[in-house]
Amino acid sequence: MPEIKEKKTSRGFVLVVEDDEMQRVLISENLRQEGYQVVEASNIQDALQLVSQHPVEIAVVDYKLGTQSGLELVKELRKINPLITPVMVTAFASIETAVEAIKQGAYDYVVKPIDFQRFLLVLERARERFRLKREVHELRNRLEEKFSFKNFIFASRAMEQVVRLMSKAARSEATVLITGETGTGKDLIARLIHYSSERSQGPFLAVNLPSIPETLVESELFGAEKGAYTDARERKIGKFEAADGGTLFLDEIGDLPLSVQVKLLRFLQDREFYRLGSSKPLKADVRIIAATNKNLEKLVSEGKFRADLYYRLNVIRIDVPPLRERKEDIPLLVDHFIREYSRREKKNIRGISAEAMEALIKHDFPGNVRELENAIERAVVFTEGEFITRDDLPVFLEIRSEKELTEAAADFSRPLPDKIRELEVREIKWALEKSGGVKSRAARLLGITERMLSYKMKIYGLKK
Ligand SMILES: Nc1ncnc2c1ncn2[C@@H]1O[C@H](COP(=O)(O)OP(=O)(O)OP(=O)(O)O)[C@@H](O)[C@H]1O
Ligand SMILES: [Mg+2]
Repeated sequence: MPEIKEKKTSRGFVLVVEDDEMQRVLISENLRQEGYQVVEASNIQDALQLVSQHPVEIAVVDYKLGTQSGLELVKELRKINPLITPVMVTAFASIETAVEAIKQGAYDYVVKPIDFQRFLLVLERARERFRLKREVHELRNRLEEKFSFKNFIFASRAMEQVVRLMSKAARSEATVLITGETGTGKDLIARLIHYSSERSQGPFLAVNLPSIPETLVESELFGAEKGAYTDARERKIGKFEAADGGTLFLDEIGDLPLSVQVKLLRFLQDREFYRLGSSKPLKADVRIIAATNKNLEKLVSEGKFRADLYYRLNVIRIDVPPLRERKEDIPLLVDHFIREYSRREKKNIRGISAEAMEALIKHDFPGNVRELENAIERAVVFTEGEFITRDDLPVFLEIRSEKELTEAAADFSRPLPDKIRELEVREIKWALEKSGGVKSRAARLLGITERMLSYKMKIYGLKK
């Protein structure tokens, strides 16, 4: 009767290293029957060769390989490819050999004569372990890719200085204060510092202060005991505790309520804090990076920000210049975003027309790099051709710079109503663009009522 075999997909790729041929064949054949893919070696050299040629996941290694030691191989494997999960086979059922093997990086061990049922269980767990390690590894690579300096684009002198400070910050444990207008890259800079610092394996937590109701800021940051306030039904762990061993990014630090400023100051001085409703001091090993688009010095002089806290934060200071002051960065950023978004959109876009680039370089970018990125993303999504043209870019780029507007205003060859009309049309187009065509939002941006906006759109013949 023909044997009905269940079709098995590969359960994993195993390297069997055993100098005793009988044993090796026995183990290998057993594994093959179970659906594993197997390659065999009888010594360290052959084993290493096979590892470089095959996608080995698990290495089953005999403790004694003739005159060689299986432990040596385990050590080598760990150096070459730490993802490979070694399982030791030992004839001596002694705890010492097993402990030694595990110390050297073996995941588990089995004792000869091999109980195959147990052996298969061990291998299954080893495979799980391999997969988990690979997943973490890939995740980390992706993170590193995303937050690597490779993706931090700059050409200007001003940004060179910023990068110099970033690398200093990455090598230090000091508190960092990043200032700059909206969209200049403060968030990205904070992450790059963390992921290239010694804390990169620890957590990076970001807290956006304006998005938290003032009464909840303290418990968000420092945690709260059960019953500390009306909603606190359970003990709440704060961001400081959660970021232990890593970096806490306090975004828009200018919005930190004065009452919580004292508490942050205490943390920066003594590395200690209290959960809301508790008198027990807690410690956390957390590096602080703060950012703001406000003028902190001004807030200090107005009494809205504590001077002592300001000095504690202002240790490594990174001022990110607005994009309009570093226009040399624009072409590189444009290329970078075209590449990034055409990859995402699976489009083959080769570049941008000279006219479109000129419009971008001329623009003032009140929204800085974020505005540029959004403009390119949109253009990549909408363009039909291989090159982005002026028509693919938002109409608000037509707005001229402040300087040009002033010059235009001093031009008396045209009547004032014409110029006002031109300005109004431009502003309305810009507001509609910015608000994604939502009239109520555009009206708010312009500081007029929605009715007034509808009226103006009608008389200027602007379509919704
Ligand atoms: N030098 C740069 N190279 C590549 N991408 C950049 C650069 N600077 C900024 N970006 C990108 O621009 C966008 C806006 O940057 P980010 O969010 O860091 O700004 P921000 O200063 O934190 O703004 P806000 O004050 O509004 O929070 C992000 O997508 C970021 O990745
Ligand atoms: Mg930000």
